[in-house]
Amino acid sequence: MNKKIIIAIDGFSSTGKSTIAKLLAKKYNYIYVDTGAMYRAVTLFAMNNNFVSKNHLDEKSLILNLKHISLTFQFNKDLGFAEMFLNATNVEKEIRTLEVSQLVSKVSAISEVRKKLVAEQQLMGKNSGIVMDGRDIGTVVFPNAELKLFMTASADKRATRRYKELIDRGDKVDFKDILFNVEERDRIDSTRKDSPLMKAEDAIEFDNSDMGITEQFERICALVDRKLSE
Ligand code: DC
Repeated sequence: MNKKIIIAIDGFSSTGKSTIAKLLAKKYNYIYVDTGAMYRAVTLFAMNNNFVSKNHLDEKSLILNLKHISLTFQFNKDLGFAEMFLNATNVEKEIRTLEVSQLVSKVSAISEVRKKLVAEQQLMGKNSGIVMDGRDIGTVVFPNAELKLFMTASADKRATRRYKELIDRGDKVDFKDILFNVEERDRIDSTRKDSPLMKAEDAIEFDNSDMGITEQFERICALVDRKLSE
């Protein structure tokens, strides 16, 4: 069976999109692209150049400097997934901090940023055989994707997962800051003018507040297998 498809996974932050996407990529031997990592890397670039902080955003300078941003993914065999490189530097750990999470929605609302990243994402998927997760994959990046999933879960469950992730890697964070960030990002991501987060009409919704990863993965694999046999 040589048929390859595009699997688009969208949804709110910390709904386990990347966990499912990585498992799917492994099982079907597909490329996995975490588009959130790309928006996070651009945000880190903007932070490092003082184009964005809690109280300011120098949109003009960031747009002028977009041409100096090179984003690449490099597969790490030990981790089993591709890490994000910003201008040839591995930024996989740095882009996951709460500080980046607090600024990323501001940066990803800029149309010029989106235009650059969407073009790069479309190029990555031109040969299919790809699992891509984000906020606008089924609506904007690949409106013709063969399989579209939309993940949701309660804000409290998502904040709990995110809190655990950050604590496990040694970050000192407060649960209430994480919950606030999750809710605030939902609000900004869903209400921005350019490509707001929304469910594509033909996407299949998964509320995983109370569904374990194994059950979810099995159900999604059945959907993929059906598409591959069509
Ligand atoms: O998936 P994530 O939580 O790492 O994404 C970080 C932010 O990037 C998210 O709050 C909104 C933005 N984003 C986006 O606007 N479009 C995408 N396709 C992916 C992420």
